[in-house]
Amino acid sequence: MSRESNLKTMFYTAFDASLIASFLAKVSTKREPERRTMNEFLGEGTHFQSFQIAATPIPLAVNIAKNAFTQKGEAAIERWKAAIELARSLENADLIPPMSVVFGSGLTAIVMPKGNNLSRAAEKSVPASLQDVSKALGQAGLILDDYPQVREVLGIPFIIDWSDLSFLRDSSGKLAGIHSTTSFT
Ligand SMILES: Nc1ncnc2c1ncn2[C@@H]1O[C@H](COP(=O)(O)OP(=O)(O)O)[C@@H](O)[C@H]1O
Ligand SMILES: [Mg+2]
Repeated sequence: MSRESNLKTMFYTAFDASLIASFLAKVSTKREPERRTMNEFLGEGTHFQSFQIAATPIPLAVNIAKNAFTQKGEAAIERWKAAIELARSLENADLIPPMSVVFGSGLTAIVMPKGNNLSRAAEKSVPASLQDVSKALGQAGLILDDYPQVREVLGIPFIIDWSDLSFLRDSSGKLAGIHSTTSFT
């Protein structure tokens, strides 16, 4: 069994839809500032607040979208979910973890393995894999338009921040904007 399919097996063994649904129900009773005081709180960025859920054989990260993300609207969220599902189906690409977009109690969440900081060995293997993953995403018509944050589980590195994944054709206006700016410099 490859390392990646091993991570996939562990993730789907740990993934319990009813456990996640009840966690989302609990979180939905609190406002964003209060959520930071929960025991499960791991950290946050502009778009997501991340929580750790104990599970067997590996802990999970449940990353719940903040208002800053959900205000994009339902259609944009559905497109993002479709992009995530396409990305996770790229069987042979490194750095793409098993992950699942879950809706519950009015919340949008992305669930994936909870990662640890990289070991020295993993740090060395990551740069080449980053090129491979962006190539694989590009071939599938996807782009991750953000600095990739990498963590690992059991020596398997993966990207944790997928909030800026989109279809290339949806982001072409944005890319054209960047291009026209840089062409003047
Ligand atoms: N799978 C994960 N494992 C461990 N920590 C995580 C994971 N996902 C998110 N985090 C933590 O939560 C923070 C915010 O998540 P991130 O996806 O970067 O949010 P945003 O898209 O808002 O930047 C990360 O910087 C990290 O500290
Ligand atoms: Mg992000």
